[in-house]
Amino acid sequence: MEWDERYRTGTYPTDPEPSPVLRAYLDELPDGRALDVAAGNGRNALFLAANGYRVDALDQSGEGLSIVDERARSRGFADRVETIRADATTHEFPESTYDLVTISYFRTLDRLADIKAALKPGGVLFYQHHLRADPPATVGPSTDRYRFDSNELLRACLDLTVLYYDESTEPRDDRQSATATVIARNTRGGAQSYPRRKLTGRDA
Ligand SMILES: C[S@@+](CC[C@H](N)C(=O)[O-])C[C@H]1O[C@@H](n2cnc3c(N)ncnc32)[C@H](O)[C@@H]1O
Repeated sequence: MEWDERYRTGTYPTDPEPSPVLRAYLDELPDGRALDVAAGNGRNALFLAANGYRVDALDQSGEGLSIVDERARSRGFADRVETIRADATTHEFPESTYDLVTISYFRTLDRLADIKAALKPGGVLFYQHHLRADPPATVGPSTDRYRFDSNELLRACLDLTVLYYDESTEPRDDRQSATATVIARNTRGGAQSYPRRKLTGRDA
């Protein structure tokens, strides 16, 4: 089924929740201008706009983007959301433009170098996608070909400062979901800085 039809018929979740990881890290991410690649019907784009970002929501589905436009209007932040109907495999991402780039459930490793180059210095990439798993995950693409192998997403981000990386499986309704998630900062130069984490427990 084509994406336009999925959004039109509600086969895809009609108002999907952003990742709990994105929510949890929001206060540590740089404010400003965001790009949501393969924005769909607005999982990340609407969440970020609701939290003050100016967001470019890019997708090739006109149906998905019209839902984004309509929701941005009805929620009162249309002035902060720009929808861009484009093919992410050929789109010319502007360089050094975004404080935050998000990608959820879209495999695009061959464009990742250009997408990372769209980050400003200090800008942050949030990327989550389906993962191969054993037993096999049943949420997401019909074939493992479109899922990440273990550590594939992490390796693809090693030129950034990785602030968070996780691979996890969890039951979703009567199915099994497996996801890789990375948050990584575009840090140049020899010295890195990482968020402070409070250690807990006996050996802390
Ligand atoms: C699984 S959905 C994810 C949507 C949204 N990011 C989310 O997390 O709910 C995949 C999205 O990728 C979009 N997509 C697929 N191929 C694309 C391409 N070449 N360029 C832009 N968008 C594309 C589809 O239109 C669809 O909206």
